[in-house]
Amino acid sequence: MSATPWLLLLCLAGAAGGGVLQARAQPDSKGFITIDCGFEGETVVDNFTTLAFVPDNGEFTDDAGTCHNISAENITPSMGATWYNVRSFPAGARNCYTLRSLVPGLKYLVRARFKYGNYDGLNRLPIFDLHIGVNYWHTVNISSPEAAKNVEAIVVVPDDFVQVCLINTGAGTPFISGLDLRPLKNTIYPQATKAQGLVLLARFNFGPTDKYDVIRYPHDPHDRFWFPWVNSVLWREMSTTRKVHNMNPDLFEAPPAVLRTAISPRNDIQIQFSWEPQP
Ligand SMILES: *[C@@H]1O[C@H](CO)[C@@H](O)[C@H](O)[C@H]1NC(C)=O
Ligand SMILES: *[C@@H]1O[C@H](CO)[C@@H](O)[C@H](O)[C@H]1NC(C)=O
Ligand SMILES: *[C@@H]1O[C@H](CO)[C@@H](O)[C@H](O)[C@H]1NC(C)=O
Repeated sequence: MSATPWLLLLCLAGAAGGGVLQARAQPDSKGFITIDCGFEGETVVDNFTTLAFVPDNGEFTDDAGTCHNISAENITPSMGATWYNVRSFPAGARNCYTLRSLVPGLKYLVRARFKYGNYDGLNRLPIFDLHIGVNYWHTVNISSPEAAKNVEAIVVVPDDFVQVCLINTGAGTPFISGLDLRPLKNTIYPQATKAQGLVLLARFNFGPTDKYDVIRYPHDPHDRFWFPWVNSVLWREMSTTRKVHNMNPDLFEAPPAVLRTAISPRNDIQIQFSWEPQP
């Protein structure tokens, strides 16, 4: 019953124009799908994460989108090769990736990755929308050619597939560098339900960490990205090599690598965070 309107809306959206791409990429043994968009080679196993990045070329039933390399001046030695290429969608108002062989009713982390890198030689930073199925997810607003942007949501997927769609809003050509899907347990992130998803604002690992050391899989089995936030002037930083026990019940399953570093107030200065709520 609940799946019917969802499917109907998807069909209407498909008929209204734009390509519906069929990524044949199946989840791997962990249930992960990791797509290197616009890459024209074979699947590459990344040495740091041990994850297999599958190309999207030839994984489609139609030929929507075009592959591009980012421009050489935006490539740095430390940058992962998955940022080297993009798929762009100059035609159609709505172009979708379809991720298949999912477990209906299960909670998933969905992450889209973007680096413009002046791939089109136009030096024109695009703005476009992302949808998950028919639902608005995020407006991608590229701030500079070299900026790497990760957009993430945690959603309960009602069907055995989910679509991630790039919507042309008339402010530049949509493009994408990578797309990830990770299964979660339904017990964690209880705020994400059938009725609402969670959109990521930021996720930080506090405490003394190498400032380039992003924690992700295999150190986080859910492959969330934990960016370091280090400030030993403002905060007292601490770490341990001992076992750290999570709270029970553990609703977020932060990995030990993240929990082993922490901050506390220095002198009488409070630890304060602020953020801009977005609709
Ligand atoms: C990854 O590891 C393999 C085997 O150790 C090595 O041949 C390859 O050069 C490495 N790739 C990168 C990008 O470091
Ligand atoms: C991107 O670069 C690779 C390696 O340099 C090359 O083989 C490929 O043809 C390039 N692709 C495009 C679309 O220019
Ligand atoms: C995109 O970002 C620029 C600069 O940060 C901002 O001025 C502009 O309002 C943003 N546009 C949208 C549609 O979010």
